[in-house]
Amino acid sequence: MKKNDQVVEILLNETEIADICRSLGKQISTDYANKPLILVGLLKGCIPFMSDLMRHINLPLEVYYMVVSSYHGGIRSSGDLTIKYDLERSVKDQNILLIEDVVDTGLTITAVIEMFKYRGATSVEVVTLLDKPGGRLVEYTPRYIGKKIPKKFVIGYGLDYQEKYRNLPYVGVLDPKVYEKE
Ligand code: PRP
Repeated sequence: MKKNDQVVEILLNETEIADICRSLGKQISTDYANKPLILVGLLKGCIPFMSDLMRHINLPLEVYYMVVSSYHGGIRSSGDLTIKYDLERSVKDQNILLIEDVVDTGLTITAVIEMFKYRGATSVEVVTLLDKPGGRLVEYTPRYIGKKIPKKFVIGYGLDYQEKYRNLPYVGVLDPKVYEKE
C-alpha cells in the first residue's frame, strides 16, 4: 500500500507483519499445548494484531477483551490506568495471554498484569506486536515480542494518533510536524 503522507518511515510492512503473526502464533501454540488458554485483547489498539495472530494459534482457546486507557488521546502516557470495560469471566486458575499493540512506558501492561494476578490467574503473559524498550518507566519485558522499535511515535495497524490512522495496514513513524504544531 502507498505510504500515507504523514508517515515519515515504515517500520513494519504488511509482509513483515504477516510473518510475525505466523511465527508468534506457532510459538504460542507450542508453549500452551495441553494448557487451557484465555486471550485477552486490550482494546482498541490490539484489534488488527489480535485478529491476525489468533488465526495462527492452533489451540481451543477463549477470547475476551478489555478497554483500558492510559494515553487519553495524546502522545504521552499519563500513567494512571482507567478500566472502561472489563472481561465478563472469572480468571481464577486460568492461563491469561494479554495481547497488546505496543508496550512503551510499561505502565499500562504492568498494572493490568498485577490486576490479573490479584484476581487469581495461574499465569499472566504478554504478546505485543511492538516493544519500545527505550520508553520504559518501569522494568518489564514482555514474553512474546513481534519487533523492538526505537522510541518514536508510531501509528497504523491498530495504533492511533488522536484516534486516527488505526486502519493503516502497516506500522509507520508519524511525522513530528503533525503533533508539534498542536
Ligand atoms: C496504548 C497501547 C497500550 C499502551 C502502551 O493504549 O495500546 O495499551 O498505550 O503504553 P504504555 O506502555 O506507555 O502504558 P491507549 O491507552 O493509547 O489505548 P488504545 O489501545 O485505545 O489506543
